[in-house]
Amino acid sequence: MPLVNSKELFEKAYKEGYAIGAFNCNNMEIVQAITEAAKECNSPVILQVSAGARKYAKPVYLRKMVEAAVEDTGLPIVLHLDHGADFEICKDCIDGGFTSVMIDASSKPFEENIEITRKVVEYAHAHKPYVTVEAELGTLAGIEDDVKVELGAESYTNPDQVEEFVKRTGVDSLAIAIGTSHGAYKFRPEQCTRDPKTGILLPPPLRFDILEEVSKRLPGFPIVLHGSSSVNQEYVKIINDHGGALKDAVGVPEEQLRHAARLAVCKINIDSDLRLAMTAGIREHMEAHPDHFDPRQYIGDGRAYVKQLVKHKIVDVLGSNDKI
Ligand code: G3H
Ligand code: 13P
Ligand code: ZN
Repeated sequence: MPLVNSKELFEKAYKEGYAIGAFNCNNMEIVQAITEAAKECNSPVILQVSAGARKYAKPVYLRKMVEAAVEDTGLPIVLHLDHGADFEICKDCIDGGFTSVMIDASSKPFEENIEITRKVVEYAHAHKPYVTVEAELGTLAGIEDDVKVELGAESYTNPDQVEEFVKRTGVDSLAIAIGTSHGAYKFRPEQCTRDPKTGILLPPPLRFDILEEVSKRLPGFPIVLHGSSSVNQEYVKIINDHGGALKDAVGVPEEQLRHAARLAVCKINIDSDLRLAMTAGIREHMEAHPDHFDPRQYIGDGRAYVKQLVKHKIVDVLGSNDKI
């Protein structure tokens, strides 16, 4: 099966109450870990590439690695541009074989966001085969490539704007802001309560009222959640127990993501959790084997941890296992 766009995957996910995982890829081991996990779980998957990934690995390497994963697994895989900053980067990816792009003009005023998004949609939908487009309304806290939004300066999506936005842009899916944020420090300690036994921070709940309001205005329309790493404390502990120093790292609880996936959320973006799993595997290996210097040994352990994590996400959080 060749690369696919997200249209039919989202239609099925919406109807059946699950979400597709959109995992960020930066190197070969991450691509292999995600796609081998998806293969073993019989799950569709989205591999997404940020501007930072393009800079680190070069677009051609990323595209060829994803094509290799398609050939190796035979899975329906979407190659998606994450947080495309302008029309040019979206065009470049569409021309280069991506099957889906995100145009992220969410930091721009509403009319400007509509104008840029509509231009990308026109280009993507005229492409043969059709390329799907995701856009965003509302802003998340955290760092996305060069845009940094401080915690507290984010803004939730306004449900009153979504119908007009979708109608005027023709976009295929919409990312909304309901309290998730990018990175491994999603909430300030003062926004959380602290578990007295473990000392671990418990974050405030996501704004499901906004998600429900949005989906009432857009029945059947696929919604996307960015910033959806859960910062699984087992990996944070391994990192901290083996020389790391991640204090008060906190993410979105997995039960809340599972709930969102049963509603209108069809795509859930996960990057930081992969980074934590990879780092946990490598740190643990390095400490246990100070004499090792073959990168295949320690990166191989990182890859195994990422694969284990992705299987857990597919089965216990996204619910996309056995959906092919
Ligand atoms: O949305 C942000 C993603 O985690 C990508 O991060 O720009 O460091 O590759 P990056
Ligand atoms: P996390 O930092 O929560 O993994 O979010 C990733 C993301 O939204 C990529 O677009
Ligand atoms: Zn994102």
